[in-house]
Amino acid sequence: MRLAHKPKSKLPPHYKNSDIKHMKILVASHLEQSAIRQLLQRHDVICTFDQPTADLPSLVRDREVLVFRSGVEITQALLDCATDLKLLVRAGCGLDNLDCEYVRKRGIVLRRIPEPAAQAVAEMALALMFALARNIRQADAMLRRGQWAKDTLEGHLLAGKVLGIVGAGNIGSRLGVLASSVGMEPMGCITDSTPAVVQTLRDKGITVAAFRTVLSAADFVSVHVPLNDSTRNLINGRALSLMKKGSYLINLARGGVVDETALYAALATGRLCGAALDVHQHEGQGQISPLAQLPNVVLTPHIGASTVETQQQIGARVVEIVEAFVQQSEQQSVHQTMTAARCEPDIRVTAGALSNEMVRI
Ligand code: MLT
Repeated sequence: MRLAHKPKSKLPPHYKNSDIKHMKILVASHLEQSAIRQLLQRHDVICTFDQPTADLPSLVRDREVLVFRSGVEITQALLDCATDLKLLVRAGCGLDNLDCEYVRKRGIVLRRIPEPAAQAVAEMALALMFALARNIRQADAMLRRGQWAKDTLEGHLLAGKVLGIVGAGNIGSRLGVLASSVGMEPMGCITDSTPAVVQTLRDKGITVAAFRTVLSAADFVSVHVPLNDSTRNLINGRALSLMKKGSYLINLARGGVVDETALYAALATGRLCGAALDVHQHEGQGQISPLAQLPNVVLTPHIGASTVETQQQIGARVVEIVEAFVQQSEQQSVHQTMTAARCEPDIRVTAGALSNEMVRI
């Protein structure tokens, strides 16, 4: 076992790494402890989480598996250092920090684990809406200064308000269901507006409408789209100008989806009443957004998926994916030996309970 970074809670003292090292694994982002323990039982594991990304090129050099989350850029240059890399496991959802095209060219198997975080992110979006509507951040800050400002902290109900969901997919539609349960009226836009998808959303109580309609009708707009070329700066000055005066914006998707300079202006002029951002244009240690100067903004450090339950599920799934990969690779090599004379196509690893974990790029 080699740890470039020691996990916070200690590994069991009796632990002995197995002699059989099936895979050389680099865990480049925080991964739940019991998952790391399980990987260590059968594999050669290096953990680098919370370490400078400058170290990654040398650490990845002999690795066959790379496990990562947001906050680590998996570029072509980094992948070029990982000449033995066979499997990439995105321990979460977004692929905006990965050069997918190059991964495809190299033939590296890519698996992602989008399901466990969906409920956590949806719940957090609802929590941030409550925080905005009831001035929780300001109330807490004032009381800590001894200010009992009961009269100035009057908030709003969520019940009866329109929630605009930009991207009513897996996470967005869950938020719609949660919001309905507190009496909100969810309305969402989607790229895939086939009748079946529209009907599924309707069955969940979510009205489907065009992007502009969602923006102009909503009291709260929550963003749940992946970051790609078509969504970069989707919520720009123009989009913000379509939003209702006095409405709120929530972003738990990716920082690049919202133009933060335009958002600052919309908040400073009072066009928007408030905003809550869990994801930011510049993320990481020491980054302070100019939006932090505004009192009507709630800022959190990309913790949408950070619940104990979510991370346990993701960790368990990472282990399953690695083990399935090992098993299939072993089967493949036996098969290849037995049919050495024939030219067999590569076996792509497809094991796994959740079909949307397989990434087609
Ligand atoms: C995700 O895309 O899964 C989330 O942003 C969580 C993360 O990667 O840290």
